[in-house]
Amino acid sequence: MADNRIHEISIFALDLAMRAGEIVEQERRKNAFERNYKSQHELVTSADIKVDEFINKTIRKTYPDHRILSEEVSPQVLQDESLDTPLWIIDPIDGTVNFAHGHPQVAVSIAYAEKGEVQLGVVHCPFLHETFHAIKGENASVNHKHIQVSQITEIRDALIATGFPYDKSSTDLLTARVNRVLHSCQDIRRNGSAAIDICWVACGRLDGYYESLSPWDFAAARLIATEAGATAGHFSEIPESAHAALYGKDIIIANPAIYDSLRKVIADDPA
Ligand code: IPD
Ligand code: CA
Ligand code: CA
Repeated sequence: MADNRIHEISIFALDLAMRAGEIVEQERRKNAFERNYKSQHELVTSADIKVDEFINKTIRKTYPDHRILSEEVSPQVLQDESLDTPLWIIDPIDGTVNFAHGHPQVAVSIAYAEKGEVQLGVVHCPFLHETFHAIKGENASVNHKHIQVSQITEIRDALIATGFPYDKSSTDLLTARVNRVLHSCQDIRRNGSAAIDICWVACGRLDGYYESLSPWDFAAARLIATEAGATAGHFSEIPESAHAALYGKDIIIANPAIYDSLRKVIADDPA
């Protein structure tokens, strides 16, 4: 069981996610946000930045000594020594393309880590009216109701989600992989929010998920999934220098019964 301090931080994080979600909703309602591109391909709206600034400001006010890794305001690469300080890992809007196109699969993702281990995660979906939450060592929930991964045992019955990078310059490997997965499982989904995909594995709407991500995409959701009984790992080698908990390349998260078979199908890339 986590101590009282983590429970207090968790109450703060839940409230923060709800308030950030209200800004996301307001921005959509007003429909006055600007659309821009970063790194040439990657959509970012003025709403992403506004929500991230709000989250950064609110954390700094309450926890001035903590560090923040957030997609828009402070996406700096983490050095190992910085992991000694409590760390917040934030995606202000996960599902920016969905947000800009009026789709509901949009999430505010907030994780809190100590010594590089995520202690709590909140994934709040303002348009779906769902808030996923977990504290390390305790159960995962959605809207305060306990959740668990699916019970299916055969990969052929599995519904698998994935995503694709903004940079489409080398998608051959990815499409070959999708082809293999599609032939092995029941069907594939591409929902446009990694955090929601992973939370949907947690609550059994999906049976597995894989993609390469940044820490802010998965930090909160992966804890929610593992606390709901999912197995989480990587389908390629992790470099020795990498911190496994924050390493986003080739992530796989699935119901434990199908994890190994799914990993095998995904990892079967030509050398
Ligand atoms: C993206 C979404 C998408 C995933 C991409 C992410 P963003 O995050 O999670 O589902 O496929 O890899 O970058 O840009 O909407 O925060
Ligand atoms: Ca994201
Ligand atoms: Ca984002």
